[in-house]
Amino acid sequence: MLHWYKIEQAEFLKKQGISEYKVGGRVICITWLEDQFYAFSRKCPHAGAPLKNGWCEHGKVICSFHRHAFDLTSGRGDPGQHNFISIYPTKYEENEYYVGLETGFWQRLFS
Ligand code: FES
Repeated sequence: MLHWYKIEQAEFLKKQGISEYKVGGRVICITWLEDQFYAFSRKCPHAGAPLKNGWCEHGKVICSFHRHAFDLTSGRGDPGQHNFISIYPTKYEENEYYVGLETGFWQRLFS
């Protein structure tokens, strides 16, 4: 079940590049790019580097360690990498930004 969480301090986050962001009991990465938020995995699947240290270009996030690139819409790694990251949906509604995360049974019970 998808649960939408409000992105707190959205105006601040828009100016921060890639940030780690705690939401729904998880830590994810979030960035503002071309007038929308993108939310994705905290760690690179290649060797676990924090993606907050990377950068975005041409619709991809680039890991700073070994330059693996991941599409910000599909999460797919570049050809030959054979890996991917999780992408979390975002939306803008009633003057607020939201990120959607799948919630498990226990999270639903105690939220
Ligand atoms: S750890 Fe990210 S590319 Fe190697």
